[in-house]
Amino acid sequence: MAEKEIVLSGIRPTGNLHLGNYFGAVKNFIKMQHDTNAYFFIADYHSLTTHPTPGDLHGNVKQVLAEYLATGLDPELATIYVQSDLPETAELYLLLNMNAYIGELERTTSFKDKVRKQPENVNAGLLTYPVLMAADILIHKAKKVPVGKDQEQNLEMARKFAKRFNRIYNVEYFDEPIPYNFGEELVKVPGLDGSGKMGKSEGNGLYLIDDEKTIRKKVMKAKTDAGPTEPNSEKPQEIVNLFTLANIVSKPETVKFFNEAYSDCSIRYGDFKKQLAEDIVQFTMPIRERILSISADDAYLSKVVKMGAEKARESAVKTLKEVREIIGFRHF
Ligand code: AMP
Ligand code: TRP
Repeated sequence: MAEKEIVLSGIRPTGNLHLGNYFGAVKNFIKMQHDTNAYFFIADYHSLTTHPTPGDLHGNVKQVLAEYLATGLDPELATIYVQSDLPETAELYLLLNMNAYIGELERTTSFKDKVRKQPENVNAGLLTYPVLMAADILIHKAKKVPVGKDQEQNLEMARKFAKRFNRIYNVEYFDEPIPYNFGEELVKVPGLDGSGKMGKSEGNGLYLIDDEKTIRKKVMKAKTDAGPTEPNSEKPQEIVNLFTLANIVSKPETVKFFNEAYSDCSIRYGDFKKQLAEDIVQFTMPIRERILSISADDAYLSKVVKMGAEKARESAVKTLKEVREIIGFRHF
């Protein structure tokens, strides 16, 4: 049987998972773990580029890990590890840095963005962020990397570094990692404030860890207009957003009912929101329960990351050994 392709993704431990993360990305990761050789890691080294003195780095890593596991990421199927448990990545990063040029790093949009956002902390880690990301990917020779649009350029840099390594050392060693497109699964989860997107920095997230009361409160406060006055009128953006969310979490007959009510102007937004909140709560509460029990189970979490690190180190140690040989490091 042909070996399964390695697919790898990482997430920085800088916040809780919200419905946008879940339906936009995590749900697909969970499907992928069945038919690919899936690697998921928590990018704690990377988080220091924006959060150099995190109050509780270990707690943040633990939280993200517990949330991923609670959504259904399965340590028996996928290799789940913490970036800093794989110091081989840091050595590959060092070696790749020798062939990464200041000019090209300064030109990346994410770097320019960060310079604008945190002018008081333009550190070298920020500049070389794409090099560390390339090391994450190349250390396992991962073929596919599922990323959102904001990460496309970083991935392009990883391809560039892979090609450059081959050219400089005159080998055909690294393949170029390609972005993995979720295709028709791609959804954008809207915010409840009428804005286009649910997000951490948008401050409009419905989090998987939110309790019932918080979810209901956030949904009841969702922006709406005065309501349709003419039959079959077009929906304004904030109402489209509510229906988009309902499409994701509610039963088709519920969506149909409120759609018809909108069309004949009988819709009562209060009822719609109540139903929407109920359906979100039905979806998130079991996950929240699992997050709470998993994050209280230190022994389990420790077992998961140990198992993941062991498995991840197999490919990492092999790659690093070969890279060292290619460059010319030899033992005396
Ligand atoms: P972030 O929370 O921005 O670090 O994103 C983590 C992952 O979740 C990325 O793959 C994003 O593309 C995805 N994501 C974040 N917000 C949304 C959203 N509102 N709709 C769909 N996907 C999202
Ligand atoms: N830069 C990614 C983000 O902010 C996180 C990340 C780090 C990553 N290394 C990676 C994603 C390697 C995919 C592959 O979302």
